[in-house]
Amino acid sequence: MGVTCVIGLQWGDEAKGKLVDLLTQRHEIVVRYQGGSNAGHTIVTGGQTFKLSLVPSGILTPGVQCVVTGGVVLNPASILQEIDGLVSRGVQAAGRLMLSDRAHVIFPWHIAEDRAMDKSCSSGENIGTTMRGIGPCYADKVGRSHAVRLGDLYRADFPEKIAHIVAAKQLRIAAMGGEADPLLDARQVIADYRGYADRLKPYVIDTTAYLLDAMDAGKRVLLEGAQGALLDIDHGTFPFVTSSNSSGVGVSNGSGLPGRWIEKVIGVVKAYTTRVGGGPFPTEQDNATGQQIRDRGNEYGTVTGRPRRCGWFDAVAARYTARLSGVDTIAVMLLDVLATLPEIKICTAYEIDGQRITQFPSHVDDLRRAIPVYEILPGWEQEITSTRTMSDLPENARRYLDRLSRLVGRPVEVVSIGPDRQQTIFTGSDLGSVKSAEAGRISEA
Ligand code: IMO
Ligand code: MG
Repeated sequence: MGVTCVIGLQWGDEAKGKLVDLLTQRHEIVVRYQGGSNAGHTIVTGGQTFKLSLVPSGILTPGVQCVVTGGVVLNPASILQEIDGLVSRGVQAAGRLMLSDRAHVIFPWHIAEDRAMDKSCSSGENIGTTMRGIGPCYADKVGRSHAVRLGDLYRADFPEKIAHIVAAKQLRIAAMGGEADPLLDARQVIADYRGYADRLKPYVIDTTAYLLDAMDAGKRVLLEGAQGALLDIDHGTFPFVTSSNSSGVGVSNGSGLPGRWIEKVIGVVKAYTTRVGGGPFPTEQDNATGQQIRDRGNEYGTVTGRPRRCGWFDAVAARYTARLSGVDTIAVMLLDVLATLPEIKICTAYEIDGQRITQFPSHVDDLRRAIPVYEILPGWEQEITSTRTMSDLPENARRYLDRLSRLVGRPVEVVSIGPDRQQTIFTGSDLGSVKSAEAGRISEA
């Protein structure tokens, strides 16, 4: 049957969680394959709110298997907290959640390094990370000598390895001007992580083998991308990015599934743009319009609570990431947030040093100088949260979607007009069968 992927096409927080939730019922396995607890999904189901970071939201759909692959960086204490929270509310995790023995493990020094490094970012502007130790853990993975994978926690040489790493990390954090952390005591770390390892043991398997077998067996698999393509370590707005391949190009290396199994890629965009943390954002509206979007869209970070920077839809960026990610169709989320605006702008090109371009710049300094060229469309100035079909949408809302789709170069397959499952319009036949989904589930990413 192959694989469907959901990929964010902006700087994260595109409400991927709602789409994943809607698609879960048509799949047997849901997979998280990159990032870590920098991702945040809030899911409300049956009147209960679940905050998930690492565990795929598929866990809330009985019968669905959930896999966290070796491409993910995993904080054992965080995932245990998530598992405990789920189990205490009657969600079955045993036998349904699988964690890769290849996943790299986050330790207290990664979080200390994250803090120390963000302060001394050379360009003067901080990356503004989520402080979850994501970047330092991926750095150790690539550096190899200080890396620990989940499977290593069960090996006899684990204490020796930790003693060696802690000695090196203490020197490094002190050299970076970081604060001494009492948790950087090798014996304590060994005891804590042995404890986590015991509790996680029932979940740890070789997920690469599991997923390859699932492909051979014709299972329906949904891959849930975290973050967004503009935060991709190689193809995003470097260095203001995350430390994994969060665009479509990261699907294979993160999951271990070769591209030949990928059947469909759905790119997720907001009807506008947001960004958390530092870095250039050409269409940012640091003004009353931006504030209006922030208020209506409740644009505050799920993980860190930071107010998100808000601005107009950037079609130059989204066209780039849709092509980069091999996107077949797009899902436009949070269209309802724009309902009160008399006019809505879309960025169709950039002007850099007097030159008009439509190619997304590879260097962040060029993007910083980019002046957006806008097309102005009339707003619809009426609430659309109870609309259920494309034809019932106000004409100006349809015009906006049509223009957005043409500029991005992909058909719109899903339009979201509110957090509830029912507040979803399916424009094509492909996802039509999820229309009759059970009511009352709300989710957002
Ligand atoms: P979801 O899955 C939005 C941003 C951070 C920071 C940069 C690097 O909810 O869409 P990191 O902690 O990853 O080293 O931070 O990336 N960032 C996100 N922004 N949504 C996310 O995930 C993000 N994950 C990381 O704000 O600018
Ligand atoms: Mg987020």
